Amino acid sequence: MTEHDNNRITLSIRNLSKIFRGKHDQVQALDDVSLDIREGELFTLLGPSGCGKTTTLRCIAGFEKPSSGTIDFLGRDFTSIPPFRRNIGMVFQSYALFPHLSIYENVAYGLKIRKLSRRDIEDKVNRIIQLVGLEATQKRKPSELSGGQQQRIALARALVYDPQLLLLDEPLSNLDAKLRVYMREEIRRIQQQAKVTTIYVTHDQEEALSISDRIAVMHAGKISQIGSPDEIYENPISIRVADFIGQANFLACSVQTDGDPVLWFRSTEQITLENSSVSIRNFPDREGILFVRPEQMEISADANHPNSLRGEVKVILYLGSVVRYYIEIFQDHDPQEILVDQDRRVRGVELGDPVAVLVHGQDAKLFPAEQKRQLEQV
Ligand SMILES: Nc1ncnc2c1ncn2[C@@H]1O[C@H](COP(=O)(O)OP(=O)(O)O)[C@@H](O)[C@H]1O
Ligand SMILES: [Mg+2]
Repeated sequence: MTEHDNNRITLSIRNLSKIFRGKHDQVQALDDVSLDIREGELFTLLGPSGCGKTTTLRCIAGFEKPSSGTIDFLGRDFTSIPPFRRNIGMVFQSYALFPHLSIYENVAYGLKIRKLSRRDIEDKVNRIIQLVGLEATQKRKPSELSGGQQQRIALARALVYDPQLLLLDEPLSNLDAKLRVYMREEIRRIQQQAKVTTIYVTHDQEEALSISDRIAVMHAGKISQIGSPDEIYENPISIRVADFIGQANFLACSVQTDGDPVLWFRSTEQITLENSSVSIRNFPDREGILFVRPEQMEISADANHPNSLRGEVKVILYLGSVVRYYIEIFQDHDPQEILVDQDRRVRGVELGDPVAVLVHGQDAKLFPAEQKRQLEQV
């Protein structure tokens, strides 16, 4: 394994497109995808089912031929190298373990095919089995292991060759919720110890946020945004990304001024956003959507608090680490419920009380209303 350099680009994908042509129709699975994967990082492709995640992995692995675009690995054109020479480890949703072989033999299988010496095979297999934490089970058959253990074996089998690149396609989707959380942390630990550059595929945004160095959010064969988990969460580039990642409130408003804009809600309440350079030109008809996360707001018992929205408490949920309030914002015709998370219960605020909701102006983001209309049309 090489000393890793976090800025070195390992894999570089440019303008990758893939069209599947059937007899009667065609599907554009990938549409002009460009990505740079850095050495040693865990890079996640995140998006809903059918957005092109698996197709991207299959193009990288060489199981699928791109319709156009390039894939370079450390400066070499990858597409001209046959799949078995690409030195890639892969784990799929179904682990595809050999049921009749022991755990040890499952992991050793590929090395035997590659005709390594017995000694080398033993060293490598033992080291990897230890890395994934399965020393105690190596004589057993896959059917004698739990789902989480089978997952570890699939990982061990992919890592035992010292691959230069590890591709994981929804590796946790066969596990129950609690085990998924545990195994994703294990995958992260193993990936960091093995220092292996990894591309991870999931449709689960929480999984992506918790384990990735960087995330590419995909939609309909395209990349919507690439960034670190906190960039994606705090600074989504569009309403689509904001809506897909985490909890979000979207509030229709009217944008009144440039610079730190003043937003009007239902022509009675107003909020000034601080530190946001908004150009009114981006808001035809002045219609905006204010995007704000539940934890970026504050509830005040003073219903006439300035720079806030007025509403009524509909539900209070105690969630352990936060208390979640559902507040119905007073509307003329179309009532809207918003989520507000507070660290603890707000004094003097009970169910049914009128309250003010303060928006932390520096955290909230404004999008043109047009974006939301486009989303609703699909
Ligand atoms: N072999 C194939 N033939 C035809 N269409 C395919 C094939 N593989 C994938 N697709 C289509 O390409 C799109 C992207 O699929 P996929 O990459 O599997 O998405 P994801 O992994 O994000 O769920 C989907 O519309 C899917 O139906
Ligand atoms: Mg898939």
